[in-house]
Formats: sequence, structure tokens, C-alpha cells
Amino acid sequence: MTPKPGPIERGGVARSFDAHARTYDKLVGSNPGYHEHLRLTTKRMGLPDRGAGLRLLDVGCGTGASTAALLDAAPEAEITAVDASHEMLAQAQRKTWPRTVRFVHGNAENLAMSGIVGPYDGILAAYVLRNLLHQDAALRQFHRLLRPGAPLAIHEYSVRDSLRSRIVWTTVCWGVIIPMARIRAGSTDLYRYLWRSALQFDGVSDLSKRLASAGFEDIRVQTVPGWQQHIVHTFLGRRPPDPGAAAPGEAVAEPDVDAEAATPAEGIDVTKPPS
Ligand SMILES: C[S@@+](CC[C@H](N)C(=O)[O-])C[C@H]1O[C@@H](n2cnc3c(N)ncnc32)[C@H](O)[C@@H]1O
Repeated sequence: MTPKPGPIERGGVARSFDAHARTYDKLVGSNPGYHEHLRLTTKRMGLPDRGAGLRLLDVGCGTGASTAALLDAAPEAEITAVDASHEMLAQAQRKTWPRTVRFVHGNAENLAMSGIVGPYDGILAAYVLRNLLHQDAALRQFHRLLRPGAPLAIHEYSVRDSLRSRIVWTTVCWGVIIPMARIRAGSTDLYRYLWRSALQFDGVSDLSKRLASAGFEDIRVQTVPGWQQHIVHTFLGRRPPDPGAAAPGEAVAEPDVDAEAATPAEGIDVTKPPS
């Protein structure tokens, strides 16, 4: 008898995405706002000149939804999209892309191993940081890969700081997402992991501090509209323009965050005390 697989754990998630790759687009497509929110995040990165002359990196690109959002914000940029799941990448590669987009198989925790070297003019990590084993090291790696002054956007579920967000998240997961996964994908393991991992992941305040500790500045957090308001957030940080300022590992000022007030839809600058 084949032993029943154990619960999905952080660090081994990409393998589970292999099994869910064929149904992934259908499931996220029925989540209202999924693509629109990704586009909101890439727009918030403020990439200039339609991306002309820029090199961008999409970490954990999956089936290419986040890559398409990057392309939407910067259609003239050169985009490298990396994922550790062969099957998710295969789904992405089945779509039509301009020649400026390339897909690479690799681990987000060690991008150099896949020949991903900077500098990049912007990095997007959508729904992936939460899944990594060594999140601080990954953020420091993103910092190193960025050109001074260039932005990092982390697009993630972050519900820990708000009881209301945790209740809405749990209700939507168990009332809609998990039952839908049972019907469409025939298994719920990945989506039960999704529920659990988002509850365990950093709140807005802790992730903002984590970004600051990794050397990022101009940290801003904005949420998205829809049922995901105060649940999905764009975390933006910038590698300091002056190479002498706040290198990773050096002491940096902690952002001052009021967790409950942290994510009005219009966004806040968490480097300044809320007024
Ligand atoms: C929830 S999907 C998000 C995909 C895409 N960014 C989007 O917004 O639709 C997370 C992706 O991260 C990938 N992933 C998880 N751990 C990874 C790792 N250590 N390195 C690279 N990719 C990873 C998974 O294979 C999966 O495709």
C-alpha cells in the first residue's frame, strides 16, 4: 500500500504545485480580482517608460499570472520568470509570450544556482515568500539582485495583525476555496496548506520590519479592493539608491506600524508614523 503523503510543509510546496498545475488557472480564474490585484501591484512598482531598457524578475511565476501582470506594467522590459515547479512552468510556457520573456526552472532560495544574476530593475514575488523556508535570506538575496534604487514588490496574504481579516480568510477558504478545489482539482491538500500558511505568515507589521532588516527602505504597504481587502497586500521596498546606506545586516530604523490601521485601501507609508 502506498503511504498517504503527509501535510504539505513550507519548503516542499513547489512539488505540490506540480500536481495542481493543470487546474491552477481555472481555480485562480474563479477568484474575483486575482489578476486585477496582481496588475495593481505591478503598477504600484512605478516602473518607468513602459519598462524600456529594464530587466525584471518574477520569482515564483507559477503559470505566468504574475508574469503577465509585470508585462502589463512594463511591456518593453526584459522579464525573467523563475519557478521551482516544472509543471507550473510548463503551463506558463504553453501561453503566448513576447520574446522578451523567458522562463527558468529554479529555486527562489538560491537563484544564482539557476544562473539568475543581477542587477535587476525590479523584482516581483507574488504569493511565494510565505512558502519559502528561509525568508530573511531570500529577502537579502532579492536585495543583492536589485540595482540600487530599484523596487521589490511582495504580493502576499497577510492576515495575522487583524482578527477580522483572519475570520474572513478562514470563512472564504473553508466556505469557497477548499470546496471548489475538491470539485475542480480532486484534492484539497494544497488549498488547506494555503489557508494554514497564510494564518501562520507574518502580519503587515512583522513583514514590514523584515523588509527593513533586509536593507530595504521606502517601505509601503497597500491592500487591494474586494473580499481580499486587508487580506492581500502589496509590500513595496526599495534598495537604497546610495550603496553606502543601510546595507543588509546593518542596523536600520524599524518602520512604525499600527497593525489595525496599517492597510487602508489607499495605502500607507509605514516608514512614517500614521497620522
Ligand atoms: C501560489 S503560486 C503563485 C504563482 C504566481 N506568482 C501567481 O501570482 O499566480 C506559488 C508558486 O511559487 C512556486 N514556488 C514555491 N516555492 C518555490 C521555491 N522555493 N522556488 C521557486 N518557486 C517556488 C510554486 O511552484 C508556485 O508556482
